[in-house]
Amino acid sequence: MTQLFHIKTFGCQMNKHDSDSISKTLLDKGYRQSDSIDDAHIILINTCAVREKAEEKALAFIGRLAALRRKKPDIIAGVIGCLAQEKGMNLLKRFPHLDLVLGPRNIYRIDKFISQITKGRERISSLDLACEPTSFPNYNGYLRGRVKTFLKIMEGCDNFCSYCIVPFVRGRETSLAAKEIVDEAKYLVSQEIKEITLIGQNVNSYNLKNKDLPTFPGLLKELDSIADLERLRFTTSHPKDLSDELIGSFVELRSLCPHIHLPVQSGSDNILKLMNRGYTRGKYIGLIERLRKTRPDMTITSDMIVGFPGERERDFEDSLRLIEEIEFDNLFSFKYSERPGIKALQLPGRIEKEEKQRRLSMLQERQRGITLSKNNLLEGTIQEILVEGPGKRGDDQLTGRTLGNKVVNFPARTNLKGQLVRVKIVKALQNSLLGELVDRQDHKVY
Ligand code: 5AD
Ligand code: SF4
Repeated sequence: MTQLFHIKTFGCQMNKHDSDSISKTLLDKGYRQSDSIDDAHIILINTCAVREKAEEKALAFIGRLAALRRKKPDIIAGVIGCLAQEKGMNLLKRFPHLDLVLGPRNIYRIDKFISQITKGRERISSLDLACEPTSFPNYNGYLRGRVKTFLKIMEGCDNFCSYCIVPFVRGRETSLAAKEIVDEAKYLVSQEIKEITLIGQNVNSYNLKNKDLPTFPGLLKELDSIADLERLRFTTSHPKDLSDELIGSFVELRSLCPHIHLPVQSGSDNILKLMNRGYTRGKYIGLIERLRKTRPDMTITSDMIVGFPGERERDFEDSLRLIEEIEFDNLFSFKYSERPGIKALQLPGRIEKEEKQRRLSMLQERQRGITLSKNNLLEGTIQEILVEGPGKRGDDQLTGRTLGNKVVNFPARTNLKGQLVRVKIVKALQNSLLGELVDRQDHKVY
């Protein structure tokens, strides 16, 4: 009997991509995928450990599997991803219903581990951070119905920002071979994918440590020459490695979309130093000015942490002032969360929970106003939208994104999924835009 597997994914794009890669591997080996956890023989939980809250969510989910296992003792239950790497063997000790614990760099041989467990019912953990990422088999038809997808170009991180657990759970930074990436992109395009987002912890340091190999702008250039690739994006970039050459790519390359996610983390030089970010507030502002000079229509989004140890009121005010000065299109902001092993644990000046919450609410409130005023600027403009499918309101509405990555919903009678269409923005909302289809002469079509 064919075995059914189900993957529950928590966390970032890297985890979503890893879950896809595992699915393709298992499908290729003859397993079948199930949308429902109750039908599955193999249940995998792909976990995040970047903040305590993410960790608690994953642990609660793992805990609830115990009941299912009691009902169906033959199922195989595994935990993969960043929490698996962080907790390691302790997960097997704490949860007797788990069979498998795999770190993010140990997912490549997942089919072997599963058949080993099936045969011998042994419990397995694999946590070797030195494993080099390799490519996964492609499974024809896996991407059916998708218009866009992620493509991983690197794994791990060497930056050791003092608040971040990633270097400890995803290991040292390593770049995948350019030829493999380009071949994969060509394959994705042959499967009707119109938009590719290159992903990695710090994509703009791609091959930086090996000068003989193509750097990030070189890789973008090669991908840009794939004729049927409509849109190319990347995330995440680190401000310290954002070169002029990369900024120039935003005008030189046909397919590169004018959006950059450039995490700033704090607006205070004291805090940036304690965070080990490798740039100052002034340097960051300079980068934004250069980006906007090159591409005035660029969407700029960022991440910010509040309540980092030692963050005084005036440091926090520097962050508030920074978001007002820069006016990000969107900001993802977080309360600092203590993580095992990070350098920041040794810093004095812990901020109380309530104070962190106060600062977060204040920052988010200010940003909400900025986001809406940025969206308002688009009212009346014509935008190119890549149609992703039906909108939330159902069949008479389609949804897609602008070149700058903003969500647009608009009424339509026909299914235009996968097509690039012209849409006039008629109303700006907090998290999306409403539009109407227009023709070449900007006349309303529907
Ligand atoms: N506490 C709070 N936020 C964090 N991030 C990373 N580590 C922590 C932490 N310990 C945030 C950063 C990063 C985003 C992915 O998560 O802002 O850019
Ligand atoms: Fe974490 Fe910093 Fe690496 Fe990003 S660059 S993954 S924040 S250590």
